[in-house]
Amino acid sequence: MSQSTTTEKMMDESMQGSSLELHAKAGNTRKLFIESYGCQMNFSDSEIVASILAKEGFDTTQKLEEADLVLVNTCSIREKAEQTVRNRLVHFNRLKKENPNVKVGVLGCMAERLKSKFLEEEQIVDMVVGPDAYKDLPNLIQEIDEGRNAVNVILSKDETYGDVAPVRLNSNGVTAFVSITRGCDNMCTFCVVPFTRGRERSRDPKSILEEVNDLWERGFKEITLLGQNVDSYLWYGGGLKKDFEKASDMQKATAVNFARLLQLVAKAQPKMRIRFSTSNPQDMTLDVIETMAKYNNICNYIHLPVQSGSNRILKAMNRLHTREEYFELIDNIKRIIPDCAISQDMIAGFPTETEEDHQDTLSLMEYVKYDFGFMFAYSERPGTLAARKLEDDIPEETKKRRLREIIALQQEHGLYRTKQHVGKTEEVLIEGTSKKSDAHWMGRNSQNTVVVFPKENYKVGEFVNVKINDCTSATLLGEAVGYSENN
Ligand code: SAH
Ligand code: F3S
Repeated sequence: MSQSTTTEKMMDESMQGSSLELHAKAGNTRKLFIESYGCQMNFSDSEIVASILAKEGFDTTQKLEEADLVLVNTCSIREKAEQTVRNRLVHFNRLKKENPNVKVGVLGCMAERLKSKFLEEEQIVDMVVGPDAYKDLPNLIQEIDEGRNAVNVILSKDETYGDVAPVRLNSNGVTAFVSITRGCDNMCTFCVVPFTRGRERSRDPKSILEEVNDLWERGFKEITLLGQNVDSYLWYGGGLKKDFEKASDMQKATAVNFARLLQLVAKAQPKMRIRFSTSNPQDMTLDVIETMAKYNNICNYIHLPVQSGSNRILKAMNRLHTREEYFELIDNIKRIIPDCAISQDMIAGFPTETEEDHQDTLSLMEYVKYDFGFMFAYSERPGTLAARKLEDDIPEETKKRRLREIIALQQEHGLYRTKQHVGKTEEVLIEGTSKKSDAHWMGRNSQNTVVVFPKENYKVGEFVNVKINDCTSATLLGEAVGYSENN
């Protein structure tokens, strides 16, 4: 994990792969092994894929050797993420040699980026399916069953999978993702997502609420509303965000924006914890921050990627705000929600970045003192504006050194933030056993910081008040002092 942080807090987009647990449905005869890489949206999409395939006779399995169908949900965000997937394909190839009946499909962003070229580049691949084409899987599987390769990478204007009830895979039974938008219209010049996930569209609030209510009924206690740019959420009856101007007066008058959606969800399930990710600074409104402050069940945590502290670089990245506007947003957040945690994404070594630009990034970090961070060396992605217009001119060594400086500073700030929790008693939702000790629970506070404490008689899914006694730069250590009111 040389290019990113190693905090326990959230998954890093490119590094984590995870296979999914067994879900057996009566009458199903074939076995699906599905593995996900990349952002939370990919993990969420795999649950939609499992749901679609359950109706086609597939149960999921965690045992690769018993799979009839192997699917890899892929990530293109950095070159290294793609390399990880290609290495996995080498492994699946060995499996296919032992059992030629096994079929291998690639899903997600690499499928969309490479399209049918994938079939040429990686001989073992039978099927290539882009992120908007999962409902076509039944047809595509029929194709490969009949011995033909199958490809569908068509991007959609309105597909949100709002009508597919995800099969919860690898679930702790406590926290779940609910996707609310798909695609991204922002066109940050370094980013491949607008090309792989298409134009931005929002999901019907009715289907979002149904999913949230259903999760509550099934015992889930926390949801994360997911989108590439959640603050840009806008439901006006369907269609692309960019076509909103063409909507009727009636549609405009009854449109639901992100602040309103947050409120609807918070009110529908007042005991459920609500989180959201990701917020793009240019789209986050005061309304959203005020809604967070108004509802206790909306967690005090905002993932607010900035990428760089230099105005010149922000402009070259097509991030549509300045350093000063970002500070204003941070000031507003801290004024309205004083204990709100904030995390960042940073890119070191964007083309033309000077030492002075890099110093601007470090000084921006000093100002904000982020609770957590996800930090990366710039990786040129084919087809992006940066790749077409700018030379990837920062030497690898320089990128790495700047990245190391950013990570070191983030660790200092992480510790500064975790220390602020010591001595306080905070509500923690128990998610499972601590990775390091069977005798301890692991959960999170409202700010999304991991809290570890002795198990006693508490159970997974309970809200507990924990007195924080100690900390590292990423974890709080404490002891339970009783159930919280929310329990
Ligand atoms: N809005 C998205 C961002 C997806 S990409 C979200 O929901 O999180 C996640 C992060 O990867 C970005 O914020 C950026 O910091 C990093 N990233 C994206 N493209 C990159 C590239 N070409 N090189 C290095 N890091 C990149
Ligand atoms: Fe990528 Fe920028 Fe959208 S980072 S996902 S183009 S907000």
